[in-house]
Amino acid sequence: RLLIIDFGSQVTQLIARRLRELNVYCEIHPYQKVTDASLKEFAPKAIIFSGGPDSVMREGSPRPPKAAYEMGVPILGICYGQQVMMHDLGGRVEAGEHATAEFGRAYVTPTENRPEFLKGWFMDGTGKEQVWMSHGDHVAEIAPGFEVYGTSPGAPFAITADLSRNFYAVQFHPEVHHTPNGATLYENFVRLAGFTGDWTMGAYREEMIAKIREQVGDSHVICGLSGGVDSSVTAILLHEAIGDQLTCVFVDHGLLRLNEATEVVKMFRDNYNIKLIHADESDLFLGELEGVSDPETKRKTIGKLFIDVFQKYASEIEDAEFLAQGTLYPDVIESVSFSGGPSVTIKSHHNVGGLPEKMGLKLVEPLRELFKDEVRALGHELGLPASFIGRHPFPGPGLAIRCPGEITREKLDILRKADAVYIDQIRKHGLYDDIWQAFAAILPMRTVGVMGDGRTYDYALALRAVTSVDGMTADYYPFSHEFLGETSTRIINEVKGVNRVFYDCTSKPPGTIELE
Ligand code: XMP
Repeated sequence: RLLIIDFGSQVTQLIARRLRELNVYCEIHPYQKVTDASLKEFAPKAIIFSGGPDSVMREGSPRPPKAAYEMGVPILGICYGQQVMMHDLGGRVEAGEHATAEFGRAYVTPTENRPEFLKGWFMDGTGKEQVWMSHGDHVAEIAPGFEVYGTSPGAPFAITADLSRNFYAVQFHPEVHHTPNGATLYENFVRLAGFTGDWTMGAYREEMIAKIREQVGDSHVICGLSGGVDSSVTAILLHEAIGDQLTCVFVDHGLLRLNEATEVVKMFRDNYNIKLIHADESDLFLGELEGVSDPETKRKTIGKLFIDVFQKYASEIEDAEFLAQGTLYPDVIESVSFSGGPSVTIKSHHNVGGLPEKMGLKLVEPLRELFKDEVRALGHELGLPASFIGRHPFPGPGLAIRCPGEITREKLDILRKADAVYIDQIRKHGLYDDIWQAFAAILPMRTVGVMGDGRTYDYALALRAVTSVDGMTADYYPFSHEFLGETSTRIINEVKGVNRVFYDCTSKPPGTIELE
């Protein structure tokens, strides 16, 4: 296995990701936690020093333990990692001045000698490679034993190595998208370190299971299950690890989609022998939401009730010591703080935020190193049905935020039926997987129409469909007019209470994905 020592770069997780793509197992440890002893115990086959925001010139700035250089294993230093390596091994780093700081795209050209590490580089006939630079300080003098193998106008030591010790150090970031051939360097490095690339999602599953067992011991874990891919994969993984020491709570707040509660509960009961509490609390939620039309009040009411309900069920579970959450890497903003303190900032999770502290529970978050597509791959590995793996995201507050204005059972019923027709249309036209998220919303107004020979005065619906990468920005999906016409007709014919359908063609920004 490979160890990444994290010096606080924003893109350290991308290094891990590149390595997983090469089927190499790695772990990221923050530099504060890596000591001579822990390093020896971990016994890495290779080490990577990440980038970081600090300056090696600053007294007390982050350093790897001395043992790293003495273990006889290959090391790759990136950006700050390069500077640290040069500084520790007898080179010299200079503080950045405007003239030498480099941010953004740069081009590296090779020297005469091409070590194995650069196999596959400088091959496209241009004689150079695009790289992404982001550094203030720079190496002024390389350490004894090192040679330069690539330079850029702003970085005379862009690629350096001590081939006898298998130490490599680059000034740029090979892990980011803007270093298009960067993955090749990682591939060369891991091959030089002797990795054969035999690590798989199946192996990750086994490792996670072992880790969960070690963390949890004989205690009991509770897990809020929503039926989304993240919480489903979390629950199944935990169940494989600790079996009956897991209890899942599925809270039905009455704001779910058509048949959703039954489908989720059935899928889990049929396929997995997980202890699952189906908490039907729709009367409670809908009762409290009566007369509430302000979006923030709705969200806060639902959030609070969710915690109350979860706490109620959880308190009935004996020995519950842990709370499992499907937090993914993008949900986690984890940074080694600039001041060198061991502080970690985590974006609070939307679903059961606040619960762990309130109940004195410890967290189990088996997916926090993964990106969404990796969670899907793990779900596949765990046998989760494809229909669950590819599901569009669904917000915690559910249909409440797709029903602007006051929520009534009648409106929710109409909305559920219309949404089901809309999604059916999308699936029938083979568009479901091209769309990030699609849903219907019921508008707080009635409009006049004519059906048969009679006047109608019914609800209007808005249909929404967006493409997105992470939900932070989004564009509306360009359905054909035929699709929109056919869908509108189907909804009005099949769903009583609707006589008009709009399509929302607002991007985000300025709109948000949900209506509230
Ligand atoms: P917005 O509406 O903010 O939505 O553009 C971005 C993404 O987040 C989802 N969303 C939520 N998910 N709890 C959740 O679990 C929430 O309170 C919540 N609000 C929005 C939304 O469905 C979209 O995917």
